[in-house]
Amino acid sequence: MPRVDLETAKEVANFNIEEYLKHRKSVIDRALGRYLKACSQHPQTLYKAVHYGLFPGGKRFRPILTLACGELFGARQRALLPFACALELIHTYSIIHDDLPALDNDDLRRGELAAHKVFGAGIALLAGDALLTEAFHLMTRPQVVRALESTLVLDLIHEIAHAAGIGGMVGGQVVDLESEGKEVDVATVDYIHVRKTGALIHTAARVGAKIGGASGKELRRISRYAEFLGLAFQVTDDILDAEGLSGTTGQPEGRDRERRKATYPGVVGVAAAKGRVQELLERCLKEVEGFGKEADPLRGIARYVTERVQ
Ligand code: IPE
Ligand code: IPE
Ligand code: MG
Ligand code: MG
Ligand code: MG
Repeated sequence: MPRVDLETAKEVANFNIEEYLKHRKSVIDRALGRYLKACSQHPQTLYKAVHYGLFPGGKRFRPILTLACGELFGARQRALLPFACALELIHTYSIIHDDLPALDNDDLRRGELAAHKVFGAGIALLAGDALLTEAFHLMTRPQVVRALESTLVLDLIHEIAHAAGIGGMVGGQVVDLESEGKEVDVATVDYIHVRKTGALIHTAARVGAKIGGASGKELRRISRYAEFLGLAFQVTDDILDAEGLSGTTGQPEGRDRERRKATYPGVVGVAAAKGRVQELLERCLKEVEGFGKEADPLRGIARYVTERVQ
């Protein structure tokens, strides 16, 4: 069963999701800042573009999930942070590339100019390449490898590489791109969403739980929780785009419709898409029922993600 240290236990007793997310985001921001400093000696344009992608950044949702799942099983933040931050580097690369003219061709990200509008497509492309590579550089630092069992480190890196790669995020992005302008069914949208967005979220949770030493059964629960959460996350993103809630996302509204993207609202309509989000939230909550109060952060995260469209 879950093991929590005293500080986390105190926090759980008075659990407040807003406070929790704010605090964990500041932990991630500080760690990312430290890692990035080490890259500041390198070509200034590249450094600036990488920095621009990472700061001020967004919700830090994936690394926070790694912390939440790890802390549920008693993992120390020190052990979790390199993997949590690596996932944020990969996420940042994925959105810099996602906005490029060759993909979604979006000029805005988080209410600011997309990286390619500031630095040009070439540097934005290379900043993405750098972020992806640095993620692996970070996870394989000697001090990281020394702090955990080397078989565990290899397993985590293997899992993250899979989630980011052909069977995961990149594969999903390819089907997303190829589905533009086509009539697609729900199964295709599920295929895209589970991979382009779900895979990294799923892995973020699993990596935390594995570092925390979750049992096989506990890991299966966390995996299912995160599978539902990952899909709910992207369906919510689709609804926010369809409903023009650009203030929430910092993205221009209605872009998916304009580009005739394969989305949940596009295929089943906004009301059914919202119903799906609600159903996925209930499934998430059910998976973590047996964990008691220590899993309040996981419940809070699931509600926080989905309530944006309720
Ligand atoms: C945006 O992800 C891209 C998707 C996978 C939908 P987030 O909504 O996590 O973006 P930020 O990092 O918080 O801005
Ligand atoms: C992005 O999906 C998924 C990845 C970046 C892998 P979207 O294209 O829907 O994300 P936004 O709406 O641009 O943030
Ligand atoms: Mg996209
Ligand atoms: Mg996009
Ligand atoms: Mg979107």
